[in-house]
Amino acid sequence: MIEKIDEIKASIQNFSIESDADLEAFRLEFLSRNGKIQSMFGLMGSVPKEQKAAVGKSMNEVKILAQNRFDKAKDKLASATKKVFGALDDISLPVEPTYTGSFHPLTQALDEIKQIFLRLGFNIADGPELEDDFHNFTALNFPADHPARDMQDTFFIRKTDDPDTDDLVLRTHTSPVQIRLMKNQKPPVRSIMPGRVYRNEAVTAKSYFQFNQVEGLYVDEKVTMGELIETLVMFARLMYGSDVKYKVRPSFFPFTEPSIEMDVWWENEKGGQWLEILGAGMVDPNVFDAVGVDSEKYTGFAFGMGVDRIAMLRYGIDDIRLLYDNDIRFLEQFKSQ
Ligand code: DAH
Repeated sequence: MIEKIDEIKASIQNFSIESDADLEAFRLEFLSRNGKIQSMFGLMGSVPKEQKAAVGKSMNEVKILAQNRFDKAKDKLASATKKVFGALDDISLPVEPTYTGSFHPLTQALDEIKQIFLRLGFNIADGPELEDDFHNFTALNFPADHPARDMQDTFFIRKTDDPDTDDLVLRTHTSPVQIRLMKNQKPPVRSIMPGRVYRNEAVTAKSYFQFNQVEGLYVDEKVTMGELIETLVMFARLMYGSDVKYKVRPSFFPFTEPSIEMDVWWENEKGGQWLEILGAGMVDPNVFDAVGVDSEKYTGFAFGMGVDRIAMLRYGIDDIRLLYDNDIRFLEQFKSQ
């Protein structure tokens, strides 16, 4: 009998209690009505009279041992749970939902664009959204009253016939920042200029009266068209993956000669289509003249890309208005970071 008691004692001591399930298993095995301790007491009847006192004492010790182990393990598990859940008493209470903000898809796309060009050795410059006609048009080689100005439907803030006062416009593109940069800084210049631009256009799924561009400018001795194309291709690969399908085609802008546009292939349910993501070209010597850069000594390339287009392409958004409505149900879908 004593041997049997020792055996139970050992198994109480060796029982590993790491979880609530272990604790319950322990209780069932030793402390429940059909447990080992209760059945051990049931054997008391068969113990010879002279041993009864000693055996009873050992059995009681074992019972106390089991109860103590149970109580201690229970406390320990409860305090471990408290540590995880803080001072909560009832861990089965429903959890309060927590709402975290997210970056706007335009911010995310812009961040990616900036990262890529920082890596390619460009820095970041800034300019005003309220521009004068000189920076927005004239210095960029848009001749006065030339139809090229109609390429962009302009919001005029001040329109004047006074030859000494300039018209004021909401900038129609970020290209005027090129002018400001070159007026302030001698070459070499290697910058991108992100910013918001405005055009007097009907609001549709494809067009909006404001959007975002990133302008780029690289001016130095012997900058070539080859470097321009290489830079743009590198950008497309880093932005869309090395298997991106792209196309570079000739185009026209007053401030670049020659001028190009780049399209990337957008795969969608209907098959896919080419989408224009940027315009670019070699800086026209007339632009250099307007800002006092020696066009005999320096050459440069420039580009301007639509951030909205790029974001829509990147995230499969088919209506530009979604980017400006700021509906939380839409924005919530862009929790990437
Ligand atoms: N400013 C042009 C636009 O808004 C885009 C552009 C084209 C910018 C060619 C450039 C460039 O710097 O070289 O349509």
